[in-house]
Amino acid sequence: MADYTKPDFWSQKAQKEGYPARSVYKLKEMDEKFRLLDPPGRGGRGLRILDLGAAPGSWSLYILRKFTGRTGGAGALSLTAVDLSPLPPRFGRDLAAEGGFTFIQGDISAAEIREAILARGPFSLILSDAAPATTGNRSVDALRSLELAETALFYGGQALEPGGALAVKVFQGGDSQGLLKKIRELFESGKSFKPQACRRESFETYYLGLGKR
Ligand SMILES: C[S@@+](CC[C@H](N)C(=O)[O-])C[C@H]1O[C@@H](n2cnc3c(N)ncnc32)[C@H](O)[C@@H]1O
Repeated sequence: MADYTKPDFWSQKAQKEGYPARSVYKLKEMDEKFRLLDPPGRGGRGLRILDLGAAPGSWSLYILRKFTGRTGGAGALSLTAVDLSPLPPRFGRDLAAEGGFTFIQGDISAAEIREAILARGPFSLILSDAAPATTGNRSVDALRSLELAETALFYGGQALEPGGALAVKVFQGGDSQGLLKKIRELFESGKSFKPQACRRESFETYYLGLGKR
């Protein structure tokens, strides 16, 4: 059985680099492979990003840091982050200090949160690392993860601009293949990708939709 109390390579690296969670390296790998934050033709400017399941804030911090060194800086970016939990004060403060960052606390499936999210669209990139609290029952966890991924795909359908991209976490099992099929209908290309930074024993993977139709 995995020992989650012992910091592994990725957790130690995250700590050294000032990120609150090791999950940042999953986004970094996807970004490097699929150019999520450098979509062709935009010169990296003017991105409007939605980060679902954003706490404790590593993905948002990675995005803001990447933009800070660019022409137009973080000012060229609009980043909306949503989570049930608040951001830890230290990282929340760093993020809030950057213009263009908004944090919404609540359930991505709740009607009032949906309205608040849609009001900040359209987006050019939607990310979802949202994950349910695990029960240890793999089918139950996979089903709950699939519901969250379907919600992210709903935002992809409603609030993603043409040409935009989506990357969403899903626990394998259940009907995750059905989700990939829907992604392929909505996007020119749909792929699954398991970053190396995922724990070896984890059954999570990411589905990507590239080029919203
Ligand atoms: C793996 S963590 C995300 C880590 C984050 N990407 C980072 O790099 O810091 C998954 C998050 O999904 C959030 N979450 C789960 N269900 C949610 C829901 N229905 N609405 C909003 N957030 C949710 C959890 O609160 C948790 O913070």
